[in-house]
Amino acid sequence: MVIASPPTYLKMEIPGQVFSAMGKHALAEKNMPSAPRPVTNTAADKRWRPVEAAMRRNGYRAGGLIEALHAVQRAYGYIDEAAMRAIGAALQLPLSKIYGVVTFYHFFHLKPKGRHTCVVCLGTACYIKGADRLLQTISREQQVSPGETTADGRLSLLTARCVGACGQAPAVVIDDQVVGQAEESAIHRQLAGLNSAGPGSDEEQP
Ligand code: FES
Repeated sequence: MVIASPPTYLKMEIPGQVFSAMGKHALAEKNMPSAPRPVTNTAADKRWRPVEAAMRRNGYRAGGLIEALHAVQRAYGYIDEAAMRAIGAALQLPLSKIYGVVTFYHFFHLKPKGRHTCVVCLGTACYIKGADRLLQTISREQQVSPGETTADGRLSLLTARCVGACGQAPAVVIDDQVVGQAEESAIHRQLAGLNSAGPGSDEEQP
């Protein structure tokens, strides 16, 4: 008797179990599985349930992409390639499109975040007001490259194309609080004052 191998979407891994860097080869649409929907490979992971529920609520239509991505972000804290592939299979969307959406919005993250986040807007309005220099200064002072998290997990330094505060350029978002007309000294003070436990913690600074 010939036993057919399972469809490829059943073999896909889920966030938390695997993280692979998003390289250009990983974006090749030919690698996208053409899976029937709904995706069932993630049924064993309870954290995936709200993601599945979000996609089901939207009839597995492409218009539910943002809601599904928010659900992944809430459940796992970040959105990795495996999650994007699973959503792509369910919503019949190419990985390249999902990757484009995830990287466009600053509130989505491809890697686990630090306890605090500092997002420097590099959109046109902010760039011409010196956002690039500001980013370099923060990177040097905090000893972390853009897109990365400090070795102690305290701070993630991220960039965005626009955070919706163009009139206050250059704009920086620290723990979801927009700092407009950001100056190096003010950002330095604010980052130095962040506690080590994370936003909302009562921990005192030394
Ligand atoms: S370009 Fe920076 S807030 Fe819009």
